Amino acid sequence: MDLTGVDPRVPSAARIYDYLLGGKDNFAADREAAEAVVRSVPNARQSARANRAFLSRVVRALVNAGVRQFLDIGAGLPTQENVHQVAQRAAPDSRVAYVDNDPVVLVHARALLANNSGTVVVSADIRDPVALLNHSTVQSHLDFTQPVAVLLLAILHFIPDDKEVARIVAELSRPLVSGSHVAISHGHPGELTADLVGKGRELYGRTRQGAVVGRTREDMAAWLEGMELLDPGIVPIQAWRPEDDFEPIPDPAEPGVFGMVARAR
Ligand SMILES: C[S@@+](CC[C@H](N)C(=O)[O-])C[C@H]1O[C@@H](n2cnc3c(N)ncnc32)[C@H](O)[C@@H]1O
Repeated sequence: MDLTGVDPRVPSAARIYDYLLGGKDNFAADREAAEAVVRSVPNARQSARANRAFLSRVVRALVNAGVRQFLDIGAGLPTQENVHQVAQRAAPDSRVAYVDNDPVVLVHARALLANNSGTVVVSADIRDPVALLNHSTVQSHLDFTQPVAVLLLAILHFIPDDKEVARIVAELSRPLVSGSHVAISHGHPGELTADLVGKGRELYGRTRQGAVVGRTREDMAAWLEGMELLDPGIVPIQAWRPEDDFEPIPDPAEPGVFGMVARAR
């Protein structure tokens, strides 16, 4: 382990994802883990790319809906087209608070964002949503009396307990004023065999996150009850308002990612 708390021998979800996206910010242990993911889930790279494209479309849609503040939790390693790049292109006054608990993500994000006054980077854990929301940097950067978009993209499947996920989403949604939004993308196992699901759990069991759990549309529908689900509802991310970056929608039997966006009333 080095001084920043990074142990290169322990793979991390952020760096596995970076490798799947073709990034360079990963160690041998991450690459090995990512290759094992691809052996079990051959479309994992396509899903990772589709998730980034979903992020861009969601952010553009939210800027068009008048949102200028984003809380991106589980922001990941900055690749191209991060939330602030997409949002500030459409609305230069957009403000983004990036949150992650992976030290490598935080180092990269701080370097990338040093000259962007519209962004901040916060080290916090989604499992303590109240502390995250009350973090002094989050509070000074975002004005919760105005609409805020909370982005929970490809993060909740690292929380193994279903009740815990429901509690986290509820607590993060509680302070949101009308016109705020919550966007979620979440892995689902399709008809992956129990053996492969077990392999995935075992693999992510050895990462910093310690778990990965696929969930269904029905599970997801329960999290944002009380909010207004935007069209087209809870769908494979490739089918959420596709644009020019249209990617084929995977067979529902294959593992993939569902996405949804809801608006606070
Ligand atoms: C697969 S990446 C997703 C990145 C980005 N949100 C996207 O959709 O492209 C998941 C990110 O969630 C972060 N993460 C996982 N568990 C977390 C936790 N308990 N608190 C904060 N961040 C977490 C990881 O470090 C990683 O950067």
